[in-house]
Amino acid sequence: MTPRVIMSGIRPSGTGEFHLGHWEGALKSWVKLQDVGECYYSIVDWHALTTDYQDVGNIQTNIRQSLLDLLAVGIDPVRSVVYLQSAVKEIAELFLLLGMMTPLGWLERVPTFKEQQEQLSDRDINTFGFLGYPLLQTVDIVIMKADTVPVGEDQVFHLELAREIVRRFNGLYGDYFPEPQAFLTAIPKLPGVDGRKMSKSYGNAIYLNDAPAVVEEKIKPMVTDVRRKRRSDPGIPDDCPVFTLHKAYSHTAEIATVNAECRSAGIGCLDCKKILIQNVNVFLDPFRQRRSRYEKISAAEILEPGNRRASERARQTVAQVRSLMNI
Ligand code: TRP
Ligand code: SF4
Repeated sequence: MTPRVIMSGIRPSGTGEFHLGHWEGALKSWVKLQDVGECYYSIVDWHALTTDYQDVGNIQTNIRQSLLDLLAVGIDPVRSVVYLQSAVKEIAELFLLLGMMTPLGWLERVPTFKEQQEQLSDRDINTFGFLGYPLLQTVDIVIMKADTVPVGEDQVFHLELAREIVRRFNGLYGDYFPEPQAFLTAIPKLPGVDGRKMSKSYGNAIYLNDAPAVVEEKIKPMVTDVRRKRRSDPGIPDDCPVFTLHKAYSHTAEIATVNAECRSAGIGCLDCKKILIQNVNVFLDPFRQRRSRYEKISAAEILEPGNRRASERARQTVAQVRSLMNI
C-alpha cells in the first residue's frame, strides 16, 4: 500500500495563537498522523489575507506565534514538512489554473461565504479573494497530492468542494489527483469558560500558550451548574462546563470522584476547579517547554527546510498539471 499523504493548514489570523479547542478539533490529529504518513502542514498566510487584507500589520508576528504553537504541541519539523503557504508560489499558479474550471456557482453556494460576510460586517469581504477561499484551500491540498486532511467539523463543506473540483479536473484532463478525505476528531465541542463553544471571537478560550497563573484566573470564575447556588446545593455535572473540561484533562478516577461528589454536594465548585486548574496546567507543561526551546530561533530559519520541501513537491505537481492542460 502506498503511504498516506496528509495535508492541513491553519490560518495565522487574530493573534496567531491557538487554544484548547484548536487542539481538540484538529491539532491533536495533526500530531498523531505524523506516525501514519507523510505530513504537509502549512501556515496559510494568504488565507489570512482573504479576511484581513485591510489590516496586515500583525501578519509576521502572527505567523511566528502560529508556528511556535504548532511546534509546541509536538509537530516535528524534521519528520513533517512545516511550511508557509506564501513561500510556495506554485500554489498561486495552480490556483489560477484550477480557477479556470471551477464553476462560480460552486463557490457562491459555500455556506461560509454568506455567513462570514454577515458575521464580519465591519469589513468589506465582498471580494474575489474571499470568494476564492475554498478554491485556494483545495489547491493547498491537491498540490501536495494529499489523500487525508485532518480538520475540524466546520471544514467538511470545504472538503466536499475540494472533492468535486478534483472530480471535475480528473474528468476533463485525466485521472490525476486523489480525492481528499476529511479526517475528523470524534471529540464533541469543547466549552469555553463562559459555557459557550470555545472560540477566539467569544473571548472565552484557554490558549495553549497561557501561563499557569492565566489558566487559573480563567478557570476560577468559570460558570458552573446553575443548581449549585450554595455550597450545600447538589449539582448535575453534565450541565457544567467545568465537568466537560475535567472529562478532557483529568484522570479517570478524578472524573469519577467529581461526578459523585458534585451530585452529593460533597465537593465545592472552587475545589473542583482547583483540580481542573492543576490538570490543565500539567497538560500544557510539555507544550510550554517545547515552545521555549524554539523561541530562540527565528521563524524564517525554522520554516526554510519545510518551504523548500513543499516547493519541490508543488513544482512537480504543477509541471504535470501544465502538461495535462496543454499549457
Ligand atoms: N480553511 C481552513 C480553516 O479555516 C484552513 C485551511 C487552509 C486548510 N488551507 C487548508 C485546512 C488546507 C486544511 C487543508 O481552518
Ligand atoms: Fe461543576 Fe464541579 Fe461545581 Fe459540579 S462541583 S457544578 S462539576 S464546578
